[in-house]
Amino acid sequence: ATPLIIDTDPGVDDAFAIALAARSPEVELVGLTTVFGNVGLDLTTRNAQRLLAYLGRTDVPVAKGAEGPSGAADVHGEDGLGGQAHTLPENGRELFGDDVTGFYREHLTPETVVVAIGPQTNIARALDAGIVFPRLIVMGGGLDVGNTTERAEFNFWADPAAARTVIRKGNPVVVPLNLTHRCIADTEFLAKVDPVLSNFTGTYRAYLANRSENQGIYVHDAVAVAEAIVPGALKTKTHRLDVDDEGALVDGNHQVEVAEDTDWPALRAFMEQRLSV
Ligand code: BDR
Ligand code: CA
Repeated sequence: ATPLIIDTDPGVDDAFAIALAARSPEVELVGLTTVFGNVGLDLTTRNAQRLLAYLGRTDVPVAKGAEGPSGAADVHGEDGLGGQAHTLPENGRELFGDDVTGFYREHLTPETVVVAIGPQTNIARALDAGIVFPRLIVMGGGLDVGNTTERAEFNFWADPAAARTVIRKGNPVVVPLNLTHRCIADTEFLAKVDPVLSNFTGTYRAYLANRSENQGIYVHDAVAVAEAIVPGALKTKTHRLDVDDEGALVDGNHQVEVAEDTDWPALRAFMEQRLSV
C-alpha cells in the first residue's frame, strides 16, 4: 500500500477525504497533520482526532500544525463539521506534538504521498526547512475562478504566501476548483454514504442552496485524495503559474501539473462504495 499523509483542516469535505483514505486498502494512512482553515486549529485538530477514532484508526498519529485566522464557519459550521462533531467518539491518543516539519522528517519515505487539503502553511514551512516531498497533491486554487473572492479559492486565499511557496518549490499536482466544482455529492450520493458522514453536510448544503449553487456539497478534498488512492484518476496538464497576493492562481514561471479532468461518474461510484458502511 502507498504510504499517505494528509494535511488537513476538517472541515466537511476533509472528513469525507479522510474517511475515503481510511477505508481504501490501496493506501496506508501514516498520519494526519492539522492546520487552521475552515475553523481554528484547536477544532480542526480535535476533529481530525475524533474522525480517526470513529474510523477505528487511533493507531494513526496526528501532528498539530499552524494556527491562523479561520473563516468558513458559514460553510462548515462553528465546529467545522456542521454542528455534528459531538457525534464522534473522543480519541485518547496523545498528539505527536506541534512540530509538523519534524513529523514529516520522521515519517516521509521515497514512496510517501502527501495530500494537502487546507491552507498550505504547514507545507510551505516544511519546504522552507528543506523537506522534499516525493509526491505532493494539493487541493487549492482555481484558473479564472474563485470561491472566496472572485479570483481566489479558500485554501490559497487563507495563506497566499504559503500557496506561492508550494507552487514555486513543491512540485505539486494542483487540484483546482475548475475540476472540483464538477464533483458534487448530491442528495442521492449522500443517501448512500455512511450517515455519520452525511450528517455533517447540513450547514454546507444550506449554504450552497441559499446561493442556488447546487443540491449537495462539493467534495473538493476527497477528489484530491482519490488521486493518491488511484493514481491517474485525475487527468493533468502542465501549466506555468504563480500565486498573487490575493491568493489567486495566475500565469507565471513555475511549472505545475494541474488536474483538469476526471471521469466523475466513475469516481463518484468509487467514492459512494468506499464511503458507505
Ligand atoms: C477548500 O476550502 C475548504 O473550505 C474545503 O475544505 C476545501 O479544502 C475548497 O475551496
Ligand atoms: Ca479542506
